[in-house]
Amino acid sequence: MKLVFATNNPNKLQEVQKMLPPSIQLLSLKDIDCFDEIEETAITLEGNAKLKANHITDKFGYNCFADDTGLEVETLNNEPGVYSARYAGEPANAENNMNKLLTNMSDASNRKAQFRTSICLNLDGKQFLFDGVCKGDILTHKKGEKGFGYDPIFSPEGYDTSFAEMSSEQKNKISHRGLAIQKLVSFLSEL
Ligand code: IMP
Repeated sequence: MKLVFATNNPNKLQEVQKMLPPSIQLLSLKDIDCFDEIEETAITLEGNAKLKANHITDKFGYNCFADDTGLEVETLNNEPGVYSARYAGEPANAENNMNKLLTNMSDASNRKAQFRTSICLNLDGKQFLFDGVCKGDILTHKKGEKGFGYDPIFSPEGYDTSFAEMSSEQKNKISHRGLAIQKLVSFLSEL
């Protein structure tokens, strides 16, 4: 079976392909000649994942899955959430996003937050949703050089390090996206 992963990130694609049975061949957006700017205009992560997966299925006819991730901070009423990529405005910039979050939380004693990933799978006319959550704390300053996005200021529950101090293997085992992908892979492996 050919299955499109609505991403242009070759590392993400390869990582998921390695977890799938060989009978499932993953294709990237580039592989199907899709260069569209798919709008992420929904107000929930699930909504954006659905928009992306539906765009591919409707326009290109493929079975497809898409993901969307947000950082939900308890003391900020779960902001930036679905707006995590654009928190400090356009163009998306991880440094500015982190600085804005640290400033908005400068007086906050409650540092609890969670990353949440939602995956929407369109398969043979049916739609399935999978989610993954990673709870933790927002640090008071940046730590570590690895990863991307908010990794330097997020420390997962049970660890003294930030995500940016972990190897990608270590992070994938416990991360929101890793957990959501594991659920998707178990589902696909049982078909
Ligand atoms: P996306 O849905 O994977 O594009 O993620 C949306 C935004 O959330 C990104 O632009 C990042 O700022 C942030 N983000 C997503 N996943 C992670 C992560 O694993 N670590 C840190 N930031 C992340």
